[in-house]
Amino acid sequence: MKNRGLFTLVATAMALVGMPLSAHDIITTKITWNREISRIIYDRCASCHHPGGKAFPLITYQESRPWAKAIQEEILERRMPPWGAVKGFGEFRGDPALTPEQMEVIAQWVEGGAPEGEEKDLPPVPKPPVPAPPFALPASALTLNGDTKLLRPLILDGIYPKMVPAGISFQITAELPDGSLRPLLWMLPFKADYAHPFYLRAAIKLPIGTVIRGVPAGASIALLPPK
Ligand code: HEC
Repeated sequence: MKNRGLFTLVATAMALVGMPLSAHDIITTKITWNREISRIIYDRCASCHHPGGKAFPLITYQESRPWAKAIQEEILERRMPPWGAVKGFGEFRGDPALTPEQMEVIAQWVEGGAPEGEEKDLPPVPKPPVPAPPFALPASALTLNGDTKLLRPLILDGIYPKMVPAGISFQITAELPDGSLRPLLWMLPFKADYAHPFYLRAAIKLPIGTVIRGVPAGASIALLPPK
């Protein structure tokens, strides 16, 4: 990409501080693809974004650079990585969402011209992930097809959207007998990719008489007991 006609001179000069793809990119950040960004992408994005994966590859700088703006947008909007639960409504373990620090680093890299950096800093390319076996619903899970009052106490460890029509938005809450409300899971809207178990950061005790609300019409939601 060094020789782009009119831009050759500028590009060659700028090659000293990083390799911009166009002369319009003035590099104003020390954050580089090879050092910081590749590590975040390999950790949180490459499981799908690799050659032959669910989405277009984001493994090399050349593959990722044209997507820099889109990457910034997708992560700031929390559309990527796609996982499903709206942040802040319920707390889950295994949530792959980027930390605010990681979001900031990516935003600064993009705003700063998205430089590549030095080859010596590049980590090894991650191995393609081994596909996880499909989730098997435990026999002791409780499947709900609408708002439900619990007739026995329950320890809730997770929630599984067992069957939800795509495109539906819903908010599952637990209304405890003392009137307090626990947010459980919010989907805005549900997509087929989100049909995985959402394990709570800490299991919660739901006493007898708790009402689970928000199961949409035509859907089944399973309450998962501790393993
Ligand atoms: C679970 C799989 C998966 C993971 C993990 C994932 N993506 Fe994606 N990504 C997709 C799929 C599938 C698409 C294309 C369809 C879509 O938009 O849903 C996509 C699309 C995109 C797009 C294009 C959006 C557009 O403009 O249309 C960008 C940019 C993106 N992903 C960035 C990322 C980043 C950055 C990460 C990590 C922080 C990430 N993705 C993690 C599956 C994934």
